[in-house]
Parts: sequence; C-alpha cells; structure tokens
Amino acid sequence: MNDKNIKNEKMEAIVSLAKRRGFIYQGSDIYGGLSGTWDFGPLGVTLKRNIMNQWWKMFVEEREDMYGVDAAILMNQKVWQASGHVDTFSDPMVECSNCKSRFRADNTDLTKCQNCGKEGTFGEPRQFNMMFKTHVGPVDDESSISYLRPETAQGIFTNYKNVLDSFYPDLPFGLAQQGKAFRNEISPRDFIFRTREFEQMEIEYFVHPEKWEESFEMWRKLVWDWCAAIGLPTESVHELEVSDKDRAHYSKRTIDFEFDFPIGREELLGLAYRGSFDLDNIQRVSGKSMDYNVKGTNEKFVPHVIEPSFGVERALMAVLSAAYTEDEVNGEKRVYLKLPEQLAPVKYAVSPLLKNKPELVAKAREVYELLRKKHGAVMWDDNGNIGKRYRRQDEIGTPYCVVIDFDTLENNSVTIRNRDTTEQTLVSINDL
Ligand code: GAP
Repeated sequence: MNDKNIKNEKMEAIVSLAKRRGFIYQGSDIYGGLSGTWDFGPLGVTLKRNIMNQWWKMFVEEREDMYGVDAAILMNQKVWQASGHVDTFSDPMVECSNCKSRFRADNTDLTKCQNCGKEGTFGEPRQFNMMFKTHVGPVDDESSISYLRPETAQGIFTNYKNVLDSFYPDLPFGLAQQGKAFRNEISPRDFIFRTREFEQMEIEYFVHPEKWEESFEMWRKLVWDWCAAIGLPTESVHELEVSDKDRAHYSKRTIDFEFDFPIGREELLGLAYRGSFDLDNIQRVSGKSMDYNVKGTNEKFVPHVIEPSFGVERALMAVLSAAYTEDEVNGEKRVYLKLPEQLAPVKYAVSPLLKNKPELVAKAREVYELLRKKHGAVMWDDNGNIGKRYRRQDEIGTPYCVVIDFDTLENNSVTIRNRDTTEQTLVSINDL
C-alpha cells in the first residue's frame, strides 16, 4: 500500500468516526445531501465551540489591546464593491463539454475530465464570482442586491470607526470577530476542508504604518502559540511565504500556515499584511474619514492592518487529525481521540458498574450530578459492559471515565480510568 492510500484511509476513518459518534453529518443528508455543507451533531458542536471559545479567550479576553464585535452577515452592497469582492473575488473555472461538470481550473488536470474521463473536453477558463447573491426586501432590483459575506473581515473594517469613537484605543489595537462566511466554491472537497458555508475567526489589528513589521512578527508568534494550544504538533505545522502572484488582491505580504492533514499538506489559516487597502476604500466610497489621530498630537493617518484569519472547520479537522490515534490494548485494536482536555466535548463519563443494581445506579447518579455541576460536560453512560463503554468514550475523546462499584458504597471511592494510559485509579468522591 502506498503512502497516499494510508493517508486517505486515515481520513476515511476520521469521517466515519465523526458520523458514527455524532460529531459531523453531511448537510441535508435526509434529502441526499447538499454539496459543500455539513451539519455538526451534539459532540461536533461542543468541540467546535470549545475551539472557538479557546480562541476568544486567548485573543480577546486575555488581551488589553483587543475588542470583540459581531456584525450582521448581510451588509450593504457598497461594502463588497469597495472591498473589491464584486470585481475580483473569483476563481478560474472550466466546464467539460461532454458531461457539463465544472472544476477549478487552477487545480484540475485540463487534459482529461475527472468525472467522465473524456479527453480534450475543456474550453478556456472563465472567471466565476464566488459570492452568494441575494436580494434584501421585497423588491428584486439592482438596489436591493446583497451578498452572504464571503469573509467576516469586512464586518470588522466597517466597525473600525464605531469602536474608535466609543473606546478611543491607543494604537496598536485589534478587533476580533467569529462567525459564518459563505463561498460558492466551484469544487468543495475533502470533508470539512473546503465547504460552501463555514466559520471564520478573524482579527484586524490596526497599526502605525511604519510599525507593521513588528506587529506582523508578534502575530506570527501568536499563531504558533494557538496551534500548540489546540494540540497540533509543531512538526505538522509549516509556514509558506505566499508569492506576489498568488497573494489575494488586498495583501502586501501573506504567510499561509499549513498543516499536514491526512489529505496532504494544506492551508490551515493565513496571516496577511493588508496595508491600508480596506480603510482607504471605505474612506473613498463612504466619504468618511478613517484617520487615526494620535492622542495629544496633530499626527493623523489611516492605520495599516495585520490580519490573522482562522478557519474554524480547518482547525477542527486539524484537531481531529492530530488527536486520532490507534493502539493496542490487551491484544485488541483500540481507536481513541487524544484531544486536549479543554477541547474534549465530554470531560467525564459516569457509569454504574451494573445497571440492574438500583443502589449502584443511585450512587452513580449522585456522582454524575456532582461532576455535572462542576464541569458541565459530563455524560451518563450505562450501555453495554464496562469494556464497551470505555471503547466508546475513547472514540469520542473523553479524558476520564468514572465507575461506581460496590466499593463506592462501602468507602465512598470511585474508579477513574485515564483515556490515554488506560490506567485505573481509586479516588475518593470528596476529591473529585
Ligand atoms: N479575510 C481573509 C480571508 O478570508 P482566506 O485565506 O480566504 O482569507 C481565511 O480565508 C481562512 O478561512 C482560510 O485559511 C481557511 O482556514 C478558511 N476558509 C477559507 N475558505 C474556506 C472554505 N471554502 N471552507 C472552509 N474553510 C475556508
């Protein structure tokens, strides 16, 4: 078996586990699905929130120079005209004249159609705008056009002046936002890697034009800290300096942070220096000044911007890929998710040793309530025998399984089993 097959096998195993255990389902599955959309099940939504909460804590709550915002997804169409998205947010697309399938021209073998296998069926690439267009209100004309936002960034730029006027922050300072973004991708692919609806966590960090490099370096380091905080091994994360011809229209410098996903090395997130591109455009189109006035001086300028831009689904896929582990316990293959504790959707699973012994069940419920009050994410699990429960909890990455047996009734101690080592220890309920 070649290396590629092994990698794809791992991807298949993760996709299958994600579905089986209630992390991620195909969107609109019951009606045959909707390409490029995925639904998060009970464990997936918690894992996703844990990732997003960690980001918010690290980059907003724990920093004096950061402010959070939550802008509307639908925005005035002028936003997307000014930002350049109406004219330039497009991918080159080719169509097969035989089966009519469409592909992105920049990562397709143009000699042969990968859908029908016919050769020489592609014409010249055409530009395809990836924004989802819609109309706001009952009138369907040019003036009511709006778009589902293709990046959260513009909701930050359009609030720069509001936050400046409300809080008078010193430079450098940043605004952060988390939320949905939509792109009508020509070829969504690889599970949640490239989808049509996804979430972003973005920061626009406003700096003095002459000091952008030091902030860029600060964020470069903070991105590495973030990767470590969500449990990505350093050796699986790589920086790629994006060349002039491959950079987005707004960027003067970009580093893509790539991750060794099971599907190969691919972009996890981006760090860009956007200069004053966006604020200049807003100033030009709105006619309102975007100047920053340095306190106590006459110095005024439009700040420059450093933008770390994180995709939630890609972070989640990287977390799952890094956590997915196979080993052998008592001669049997075991699969477990070695999730960092703070990200695990369930922190403790609580079980009575036997579910037909009312005194064990009653004591176990007591422990369950106690832990749930303390930690929130606690699961009651009395299905099957203890071995099966452990395997099930391993597969969803629960760090600790707590078992209540007859000793508990006598001496108030429970057995705690560790996910990673499978070791079991006796702990007093009072010390839980
Ligand atoms: N505001 C800058 C911006 O949006 P981007 O490189 O186009 O930059 C940033 O997107 C991040 O958003 C990517 O690094 C990726 O993590 C995520 N992302 C972009 N398109 C995506 C898609 N179709 N599906 C899932 N995630 C996506």
